Amino acid sequence: MLKPFDPTTPLPPQEPGWDNHLTFSYKEIDAFWLARWTPETGWEPGRLYEHRGAKLELSPGAAVLYYGEGIFEGLKARRTRTGKIVLFRPQDNARRLQASAARLAMPAPSVDMFMEAVIAVTRANARWVPAPEKGSFYLRPVVIGSGPILGVAPAPEFLFYVFGCPVGPYMGGDRVIVPYAAHRAAPYGTGAAKAAGNYAACLRPQKIAKELGYVDALYLDAREDRYIEELSGANFFAILKDGTLVTPALGSILPGITRDSVLTIAREIFGWIAVERKLAIEEVINDAVEAFYTGTAAVLSPITVVNYRGVDYPIGDGQPGPRARMLRQALEEIQIQERPDLWGWVVEVA
Ligand SMILES: Cc1ncc(COP(=O)(O)O)c(C=O)c1O
Repeated sequence: MLKPFDPTTPLPPQEPGWDNHLTFSYKEIDAFWLARWTPETGWEPGRLYEHRGAKLELSPGAAVLYYGEGIFEGLKARRTRTGKIVLFRPQDNARRLQASAARLAMPAPSVDMFMEAVIAVTRANARWVPAPEKGSFYLRPVVIGSGPILGVAPAPEFLFYVFGCPVGPYMGGDRVIVPYAAHRAAPYGTGAAKAAGNYAACLRPQKIAKELGYVDALYLDAREDRYIEELSGANFFAILKDGTLVTPALGSILPGITRDSVLTIAREIFGWIAVERKLAIEEVINDAVEAFYTGTAAVLSPITVVNYRGVDYPIGDGQPGPRARMLRQALEEIQIQERPDLWGWVVEVA
């Protein structure tokens, strides 16, 4: 049962020290937002509900449960040192959700509806947005095929909901492994959509990677098993000996918003040559002096070792590189309004 969120009801106190040592994990907080879509009404107006103890009621026949008709987004609200709360490129998340929805024959909220939901959730839970040095507030917008269906077809009803959690660092490791005989996505598949099923395909390679002491799997392309795609939840970059910043071209990878931000910062702030193209694993092993991964959750983290076919290859001198650090610093400063935002990326919500 969902209880409407009443902002005038006194809220339970926050446990002391809730923001010390935050991890990247699910937490029920004050309010989340939900709207329903039916063929007759389209998107009904959404509203806030109590998050603590909330359960979604779903038919056992809900399309998401077996045909995987589920897509989502991830974006962060951050507190600035002046006490404002800001979102980073939220309209881009709204547009990517629309692209994912189109691929899976689902309805998507408009950009305005998406913005209404993420702003409402951020404002209602403002007390859970950590101080800048403590963490950030991760927002998770989701669309699922909630209506029951038996044969393969789009669901007759959908839910769009948004919850948030205060979070700390995401993965925090710098060694990756190319999985043996496992791909994340195929050409013309759903790799470019933020579809739940793409993550299901990553669970086993990621688990094996962790068991072997690596932070994540680094996937190669499904056609030639040679060109780097991305990690389970982050995009890949390398800096080559000649100074070029290279990231795999779009196609069957997620078009990361951090990826696009890093390309823009590299080109427009630092004046570096930054290209999107096919990037063979051998090229990274032989020619990269730095490598890193990017994502909303991961921000930008160095890669110091790539394991390929059983061999650990250090990248450059096997230490985090200076240019990855420069990019991360510039990105983080823009995200909390400590460096000019030349592109209108940062949206103040409180
Ligand atoms: C598979 C995958 N690739 C890349 C990314 C990075 O995308 P973004 O920078 O928009 O968070 C994510 C995270 O959302 C992801 O799940």
